[in-house]
Amino acid sequence: MENRTFPRDFTWGAATASYQIEGAVREGGRGESIWDRFSHTPGLVRNGETGDVACDHYHRYREDVALVASLGFNAYRFSISWPRVLPAGTGTVNEPGLDFYDRLVDELLGHGIAPFVTLYHWDLPQALEDAGGWPARSTALAFADYAAIVAQRLGDRVRSIATINEPWVAADHGYRIGTHAPGRSDPAAAIAAAHHLLVAHGLGMQAIRAAAPAVPAGIVLNLGPMQPASSHPLDLEAASAAHDWLNRWYLDPLVGRGYPGLPAWAAGHARVDIRDGDMELIAAPLDFLGVNYYSRNQVRSPLLPQLEPTGAPPERTGIGWEVYPAGLGETLEFVASRTGELPLYITENGAAYPDGADAAHDPARVSFLRRHLAVAHQALERGVPLRGYFVWSLLDNFEWAQGYGPRFGVVHVDYGTQERRVRDSGRFMGAVARSGQLPIDDGAPAGGPPA
Ligand code: FCB
Repeated sequence: MENRTFPRDFTWGAATASYQIEGAVREGGRGESIWDRFSHTPGLVRNGETGDVACDHYHRYREDVALVASLGFNAYRFSISWPRVLPAGTGTVNEPGLDFYDRLVDELLGHGIAPFVTLYHWDLPQALEDAGGWPARSTALAFADYAAIVAQRLGDRVRSIATINEPWVAADHGYRIGTHAPGRSDPAAAIAAAHHLLVAHGLGMQAIRAAAPAVPAGIVLNLGPMQPASSHPLDLEAASAAHDWLNRWYLDPLVGRGYPGLPAWAAGHARVDIRDGDMELIAAPLDFLGVNYYSRNQVRSPLLPQLEPTGAPPERTGIGWEVYPAGLGETLEFVASRTGELPLYITENGAAYPDGADAAHDPARVSFLRRHLAVAHQALERGVPLRGYFVWSLLDNFEWAQGYGPRFGVVHVDYGTQERRVRDSGRFMGAVARSGQLPIDDGAPAGGPPA
């Protein structure tokens, strides 16, 4: 049996986000977030589910950190709830909120786990949304103050700080199609939000540099191939437009290439209010870029009739996302073509499947992870400066508008009892993390069918 060997200093982690796991939404002085408001609005989240309790991680963080350690990971990616730290978004710091993250970081370090912090994973303080939300430039300024507060408090101990998680989703789902909080559908607002999220990133980088100059700082983007559904010129154009909005709108300005053209849905509704110095601010050097990868899209022009499916249907996860491991390599190579030697991390990759008779056995998830890790290894061999891999997610959790239905955890959560049960995928990831070796023993070549 042959193994694929990862570099000795490779970062192996599991990822989560505050609103998806913490619960305790009215404890410790936390303010309201846009996800509290959104999830409590009837009809917006499947089955009316909310993050009120979630995985109760706020009370169980010690147990959860012990779990991360016992599995064998050397890093943990989590996000900070802005309204826990600043209940009104700006102004007075809520010390008990900051204390929670202080204890979490110490607990991680006590177990030898490197803390990878994300400052914004979508739980904007509701007070800031009431004042205009991301379409208002003032939200970016508020973010800079928040970033400074967290960096001052935790910067002496954390291993990495990412400003924003997936600004594309925040702008697109939050303000263009309205399926995520705050649930607005307004093209002009979406374009303004998209720009201000990047301005916030730039200001946040300055704040982190000032308060914690030794901590690597960067951002996390969700990226993936946008492929034409056919070779028809209209499909090529549609795919290229989708690629511009998903893959280039954030990456290009971050590396000094400016924005691609405005998406067609925004033309006529919006222009980007770029102020003097914004593009330089956004393009300030990063220490790393985080890439979240789940799947590809095959893009069909709305001007053409829908294609009748032919051939074998593609392999899909339990929530219908196509399993396309090769896309991880395509995405990393696309990014590296622009970022060169900049260290890259896969900050999220994973899959939701329904549980079988025994929730601890999840062969489909193991196969998904194994094949994506094989592609990550291949990318390393091709010279992509990949420094780490975080599985999404440590725990089953609140999957935004889809509520608790989709289960992404390498650890199963019984929401009735809050019992955690390690899945085979958790043991598998832990074994890879501990050894730095990905065994090639299932007969499935990289990118091939599941074992
Ligand atoms: C990503 C999000 C993460 C989780 C996964 C499945 O877009 O960053 O919170 O919902 O998708």
